[in-house]
Amino acid sequence: MQVVVKRDKPERVAVDVLAVFLRQEKSLTPKSVVAQLDVRLGGRIRDYLDSGDFSGALNSTALVRTGATIQASRVLLVGLGKADAGTIDVLRQASATAATAARRLGVSSVAFLPPPCDIAPGEVGQALTEGALLGLYTLKKYKTAPENGDKDHLRELYIVATGSTTQRALESGVQRGQILAEAVNMARDLSNSPGNEVNPSYLAKQAQEIAAKTTLRCHVLDVDGMREHQMGCLLGVAQGSNQPPAFIILEHAPQGAQEKPIVLVGKGLTFDSGGISIKPAANMEDMKMDMSGGAAVLGIMQALAQLGYPRRVVGLVPSSENLPSGNAVKPGDILRAMSGKTVEVINTDAEGRLILADALAYAVQEFKPACIVDLATLTGAVVVALGSHATGMMGTDKAMMDRLRTAGEYSAERVWELPLFEEYSKQIKSDFADIKNVGSGREAGSIVGGAFLKEFVGDTPWVHLDIAGTAWTRENRPYIPKGATGVGIRLLVKALEDMVEGTAQPTATVTT
Ligand code: BES
Ligand code: ZN
Ligand code: ZN
Repeated sequence: MQVVVKRDKPERVAVDVLAVFLRQEKSLTPKSVVAQLDVRLGGRIRDYLDSGDFSGALNSTALVRTGATIQASRVLLVGLGKADAGTIDVLRQASATAATAARRLGVSSVAFLPPPCDIAPGEVGQALTEGALLGLYTLKKYKTAPENGDKDHLRELYIVATGSTTQRALESGVQRGQILAEAVNMARDLSNSPGNEVNPSYLAKQAQEIAAKTTLRCHVLDVDGMREHQMGCLLGVAQGSNQPPAFIILEHAPQGAQEKPIVLVGKGLTFDSGGISIKPAANMEDMKMDMSGGAAVLGIMQALAQLGYPRRVVGLVPSSENLPSGNAVKPGDILRAMSGKTVEVINTDAEGRLILADALAYAVQEFKPACIVDLATLTGAVVVALGSHATGMMGTDKAMMDRLRTAGEYSAERVWELPLFEEYSKQIKSDFADIKNVGSGREAGSIVGGAFLKEFVGDTPWVHLDIAGTAWTRENRPYIPKGATGVGIRLLVKALEDMVEGTAQPTATVTT
């Protein structure tokens, strides 16, 4: 859906629902846009607040009939919560609440009246757009009939520019929000879709389609290409499946950008059964999302191209299935990575680090990057450690990790650092090969995963993001419906933008 900025008096906006955002306060701020609108409404909003039926708590709603006093048929009150708890994420959440409430009403048009706040209009436009488009996300492709009570007729979404608000700033924010939300929703589609459709060839095709509609260049290595590059670990994981693996390379090379690129690497395991070290059956179906890091990289690259990001960035997605078969890699097998290091496979379910090993080595050898950031649903242990509200972060690039922490707060895709002390590397020493793919014992599972990856980056500054806990949610959140979250895209785009002088913006809070 296209979000459109409309400059008009709120009472003149002819839509089915006009959403008005209010803080948790007993009274309307005199002379505010909402107070003026309420004069037209004959005090209907005032009455609602006085009755106590609408608290203004974050994501609370109430519907007010306008009785032809204004052009809109209904006014939807949407709570922003307490003023001092107000951040950009409050706007995303409230916007999603408003948009999904309008959808539930079965209406076709909704307009948002942005709340007065000290956040720059561009940021407000972006947050409202992100919230609405991310909140409205659904995957209907595999349903042959609409769900019970599915009356999704919502087609028009406006943001009203009033008073002195600069329409242009609001519009550029809306456009950024639109680009980011579309990238996230594309990644969600890929992760939510089943493994029998989204296999490595599908991911490769998707990457080629993204390149065709943007300025990105796409190249895909097939099995022969992988053999040429001696990607023994990726080939080893893929050998148990009938689906051929793919190694996707997407390049963003803006004119005049001469510097070493940033390389992003995303785990593209389109289904992880565990292989010969097979997983238990319960919830195994969720392992179709084991390509969420790869999907995030495709989304980030698409968004960077559409936003006109000024620096060179390369996205790499090693993609494979991990299945048991007569050809599958076995515990005890030794694989030779592209870097030349030999790896003893102790557990075939620790396959993500194997396919990433070759991608990291490829990044180092082919691009001599300024920095590598990988995103991977790597370990169940990170779900135990951090649950679903923080991504595990490890690495050697302190400056990038600081940037990611700040970007995590801004985007509400928070990261939390785990240590990568030298001592952890001892756990992956192998008796027969250079290293083994799991640690001795079950201690520090996520860190051992990071320690394994570190073996393949050499001196290149690098950050590893373990998104196993954050890529998927079992509960509906205001702008994250259950299933794939599309985590990492808004995070990385913000962190990368903050690297470019002049684009860093302070995190503002809602104060009025
Ligand atoms: N894809 C899984 C990790 C995962 C777990 C992702 C839960 C999303 C949710 C990964 O390939 C895996 O199986 N890791 C093993 C590693 C172990 C064998 C050292 C794990 O976490 O159990
Ligand atoms: Zn696995
Ligand atoms: Zn996996």
